[in-house]
Amino acid sequence: MTVAAVLVAAGSGERFAAAAPKAFVELAGEPLLVHALRALLGAASIDEVVVVVGEQRRAQAAAALEAAGLPPAALVAGGATRAESVRSGVAATAADVVAVHDAARPLVSPGLVDRVVAALYDHTDTSHPLSAVAPALAVVDTLKLVEPTRMQVLHTIDRRALWAVQTPQVFARRTLQRVHRRLKVTTATDDLVLVEEAGGRVHLIEGERRNFKITYPEDLAMAEALLRTSC
Ligand code: CTP
Ligand code: MG
Repeated sequence: MTVAAVLVAAGSGERFAAAAPKAFVELAGEPLLVHALRALLGAASIDEVVVVVGEQRRAQAAAALEAAGLPPAALVAGGATRAESVRSGVAATAADVVAVHDAARPLVSPGLVDRVVAALYDHTDTSHPLSAVAPALAVVDTLKLVEPTRMQVLHTIDRRALWAVQTPQVFARRTLQRVHRRLKVTTATDDLVLVEEAGGRVHLIEGERRNFKITYPEDLAMAEALLRTSC
């Protein structure tokens, strides 16, 4: 069994609103994608990595990897949506298993990557070939369903059954390619949903608080603080 990580880093980072795409924004002096890639390369379960970047960013990504002392990785051009970028990345590997990770989650630990990959093996059931595993955290906020025009609360949602999903999300490569082929609307913000909609089984394992997604500038400040205090 070979396992490839597909690191998606081709987004523009609209909400982050920096001059550069978010994956190239620096955290402790190195681009987010370098942090995420180092963790993936440090995971014993990962045999190869494909990095998906914007069409015009391959040379910049290769230079960033070299500057960080990381080995050269396969660099492929992404698409207009995350789903299209994942599809390009998966097409570039022949590995049996694929772990899709967001460059926007730079503080993922190699241990978490290994645990998600191991959980896919635990849950793989030949009678149910469509399966996937991802890390997730129990939701901590109180959640309200809202009527959006007046921002009026309709009711409170019981959060006990709600989990916020992270990456890496791990699949048999054939499963991931199959569900991506069926895909018509490419606006999905994760890949698990494609397996869910195809009638597959998706399992979650406990994620890590540090593995949060950098979406807004405040998130970067929090990541910097975490690295400084190394908690
Ligand atoms: N991503 C990608 N290709 C796209 C869109 C997103 O590879 N066309 C990647 C991003 O680079 C990121 C991950 O998917 O690592 C999660 O996406 P998100 O946090 O939404 O990043 P962006 O799409 O860049 O940010 P925004 O939605 O604010 O524009
Ligand atoms: Mg996005």
